[in-house]
Amino acid sequence: MNIFVTGGAGFIGSHTVLQLLREGHDVAVLDNLCNSSEESLKRVKELSGKEAKLYVGDILDRELLDRICDENDFDCCIHFAGLKAVGESVEKPWEYYNNNITGTLNLLDSLRKHNMKNFIFSSSATVYGDPAMIPITEECPKGQCTNPYGWTKSMIEQILMDMAKADKEWNIVILRYFNPIGADPSGRIGENPKGIPNNLMPYVTQVAVGKLERLGVFGDDYDTPDGTGVRDYIHVSDLADGHIKALKKIKEKAGLCIYNLGTGNGVSVLELVRSFEKANGITIPYDIKPRRAGDIAMCYADASKAKRELGWEAKHDIVDMCRDSWNWQSNNPNGYDR
Ligand code: NAD
Ligand code: UD1
Repeated sequence: MNIFVTGGAGFIGSHTVLQLLREGHDVAVLDNLCNSSEESLKRVKELSGKEAKLYVGDILDRELLDRICDENDFDCCIHFAGLKAVGESVEKPWEYYNNNITGTLNLLDSLRKHNMKNFIFSSSATVYGDPAMIPITEECPKGQCTNPYGWTKSMIEQILMDMAKADKEWNIVILRYFNPIGADPSGRIGENPKGIPNNLMPYVTQVAVGKLERLGVFGDDYDTPDGTGVRDYIHVSDLADGHIKALKKIKEKAGLCIYNLGTGNGVSVLELVRSFEKANGITIPYDIKPRRAGDIAMCYADASKAKRELGWEAKHDIVDMCRDSWNWQSNNPNGYDR
C-alpha cells in the first residue's frame, strides 16, 4: 500500500515507518521536525534498505497538505503528528489545541477532498482518565483528562466518530496506546526527548548513562501492590506492528474501530527499576518523592480485542524493553545530536 505518515520522524512514527518499509509498503512522511530529527529517517533507510519520501512541513499548512495529496495516491494515512508533552500542554493550552486539533481537522479535510478516507489515529490510554475498570477494555467509558494534551486526544476521537457516522466512506482505526518504551533492537533509532525527560523510562536511562543523578519515584502510597504507580509498558516495535495489523482492518472497510494497544500486564515503578537493573547490570539510585499531580494509581489494558480482531499481541516483555531502551541510550547518549 501507499501510506501517508504524519509525524513519521518521531519516536513511534520512525519505528512504524521502518516496519512499513520492511513489509514492502511505500511511505511518504510529513513532519515539521519540531520534536524530531531527519536523522531518524536516515537511519530507518540504513536499517530497511528503502527510503521514505520526506516532506518537511506542517499539518497546519493546508496548501501543503493539498499538494501532498495531489502528488500521491495514498491508500491510508497514519496520523502521529502532534505535540505530546503533558506539562507543557498545561502551560500552553492554545498551542496544543491548535496544533493537535486544527492540524487534524486540516488533514482530514485534505484527505476527504482527495477521496482518501482511510485513517489510523494515535490515541492514548489517557482518554480513560482515572479508569472506571481495570484491566481497561475499549468499553470502559472515557473519563476526565487531567491536562489539555489528554483532551486533544479525547476530542479528536469524538471528531473522528462524528465524521465516520456522517460519512460511511470513512474507515478509521483509533489506536489507544498504553506506555510505549523500548527501541529497535539495532539501537539505531529510539526516543529522543528534549531536555529533562518527564516520562519514567527515559529518565531511568539518563540516570544509567550518568546524565541525571537519581530517579525520583513519585509516590509509594498508592493502592497498588508495592505502593508505586502501575502502568502497561509496551515495546515500541510491538506498537509499530499494531499499525501494520490495523491496515488489515482498514482493508476490510469496517467503518470506525477502536483498539487498546497494551500488553495487559501491569508493572510498578519499582518493578520497572528492578527489571532495568537486572537486564542491564546497572544500579539505578532513587528517592521516594511526593505524588505527581494528575497521576493515577493503576492503568493497564485488556488487550484481547486487538488479539481477536487484528491478530495482534505484544511479543516483548519488560526485560526486552529495558534491554532495548538501554541499548539505544548507551549507544546514543545524546540521542540524534552528534
Ligand atoms: P514524537 O514527538 O516523537 O512524534 C511526533 C512527531 O510529530 C514529531 O516528529 C514532531 O516533529 C511531529 N509534529 C508535531 N507537530 C507537528 C505539526 N504541526 N506538523 C507536522 N509534524 C508535527 O511523539 P511520539 O511519542 O512518537 O508520539 C506519536 C503520536 O502518538 C503522538 O500523536 C502522541 O500524542 C501519540 N501518543 C504517544 C504516546 C507516548 O507515550 N509516546 C502515548 C500515547 C499516544
Ligand atoms: C504520561 C501521561 C500520558 C502520556 C504518557 C506517555 C500524565 C498524567 N500522563 O503517562 O498522558 O500518554 O505519559 O507519554 O502525565 N514516574 C516516576 N518518576 C519519574 C517519572 C515517572 O516515578 O521521573 C512514575 C509516574 O508517577 C507513573 C509512572 O512512573 O506512575 C509512569 O509515568 P510516565 O512515564 O510519565 O507515564 P504516565 O504518567 O503513565
